[in-house]
Amino acid sequence: MSALIAVPTLLWDCAWWIVASYATFRGMKFLYIFLHSIYGHFFSTPLDLTPFLSSWTVVTGCTDGIGRAYVEELAKARGVRKFYLIGRNAGKLERVKKELEESYEGCEVRTAVFDFEKDDFDRLPKELGELDVGILSEFQLAPIH
Ligand SMILES: NC(=O)c1ccc[n+]([C@@H]2O[C@H](COP(=O)([O-])OP(=O)(O)OC[C@H]3O[C@@H](n4cnc5c(N)ncnc54)[C@H](OP(=O)(O)O)[C@@H]3O)[C@@H](O)[C@H]2O)c1
Repeated sequence: MSALIAVPTLLWDCAWWIVASYATFRGMKFLYIFLHSIYGHFFSTPLDLTPFLSSWTVVTGCTDGIGRAYVEELAKARGVRKFYLIGRNAGKLERVKKELEESYEGCEVRTAVFDFEKDDFDRLPKELGELDVGILSEFQLAPIH
């Protein structure tokens, strides 16, 4: 009889420990991300991009979302003036090019239409292989194969 009572108690204890462990893990993870972002935003020293300013900064997935914000930040706060932007949509690329060139004096922007999901890499402009590239960042939704 006592064994019958012990089984549900044991199950209850196990369930409690699983839930408590998971909640603790999520809480610690949240705390880590929160503190890390506070440190990154207010206390860390940004990487010195000066050696890369004379080279080209190539950014994929730059017409929307994180990639667009990243390009803006590089131009506004870090003095980057030479962008090579890659995306699927010629109209969106042209809009970003215009915005950057109008907002930041001396900004030079080249663009290439390319779909990382469908296009063959032969379709990328040949000049990309010859450019002096300092920074390369990818933000498009599709993985680069
Ligand atoms: N947003 C978040 O909170 C978050 C968090 C963590 C990770 N991420 C990751 O960060 C990346 C960007 O997210 P997001 O929210 O900034 O996305 P988004 O706003 O949809 O922007 C995606 C960008 O990628 C381009 N793009 C999409 N598919 C492409 C393709 N096949 N070839 C070339 N360019 C392509 C789009 O440009 P065109 O349409 O002009 O081609 C656009 O500029 C994604 O991989 C996402 O999983 C996002």
